[in-house]
Amino acid sequence: MKGIVLAGGSGTRLYPITRTVSKQLLPVGDKPMIYYPLSVLMLADITEILIISTPTDLPQFRRLLGDGSSLGLTITYAEQSEPRGIAEALVIGADHIGDDSVALVLGDNIFHGHGFSEILTENSRDLVGCVVFGYPVQDPERYGVGEVDAAGRLVAIEEKPMRPRSNRAITGLYFYDNSVVDIAAGLRPSARGELEITDVNRAYVRLGQARLIELGRGYAWLDTGTPESLLQAGQYVRTMEERQGVRIACVEEIALRKGFIDAEACYRLGISMSSSAYGRYVMEIAEELGALPA
Ligand code: TTP
Repeated sequence: MKGIVLAGGSGTRLYPITRTVSKQLLPVGDKPMIYYPLSVLMLADITEILIISTPTDLPQFRRLLGDGSSLGLTITYAEQSEPRGIAEALVIGADHIGDDSVALVLGDNIFHGHGFSEILTENSRDLVGCVVFGYPVQDPERYGVGEVDAAGRLVAIEEKPMRPRSNRAITGLYFYDNSVVDIAAGLRPSARGELEITDVNRAYVRLGQARLIELGRGYAWLDTGTPESLLQAGQYVRTMEERQGVRIACVEEIALRKGFIDAEACYRLGISMSSSAYGRYVMEIAEELGALPA
């Protein structure tokens, strides 16, 4: 399975902060926002990852993550010249997807919870159709809302419904089989001029091939689109990390635990950031898992 992080958009709800910097590079806790969706793909065992962003922001992501090799990844980059919709990621990413399946994650979505890696790998294996992830929210009218049958099949999606039939919001993480390339190529812009991800998902619903996996109350799915929610997400991450002494979305640690890199390589990544608590944590993890201190 290939991975795509969509990290463009205009971030107007965060103006003036995002006038000069991409939303997905803003700090959440002690790391850039994009580490969180990137770690979701890594937890799904995905190593070939395309990052899509605006022409002005793309060089910054490149500076941050390079070709991904230090994390045992292959990271490539593509431009979205205008925010023409989430589903455009699947058009821009068609060559990257090739004849494989794909996981698309939005660059501003933060997921956290026990056993997430297992949920991701189980549901991406031998994928037929699409898998979306549902999360209970208090304000479903702001989201795409999924309706499922007894077998967990997604039977309908309502987009920002005035009277939602459930409180199950569809999150910004989507798994698709290879037919998504053709489905995306056939999309037409909606009334608001965007290629809609809901139209992609509805195509799978019509085929009877869409599943919704519930992320229950043991999970956090956090929003980062406004100053308040960005601050709350940062506070959540700090609280969990300080209490538990482990870090959320530490990409170096995930790369090591997944076997993408060895402990020595992880230790070196830590040393290069040893002035920060984050860097020292990376060194400690590497030592714990086998690296001898230099
Ligand atoms: P949104 O939060 O819907 O849009 P935005 O980030 O531009 O913010 P605002 O509403 O404040 O103007 O986007 C969700 C995610 O998808 C976010 O990570 C940006 C990304 N995105 C793109 O990269 N390209 C697009 O065309 C769209 C619509 C979103």
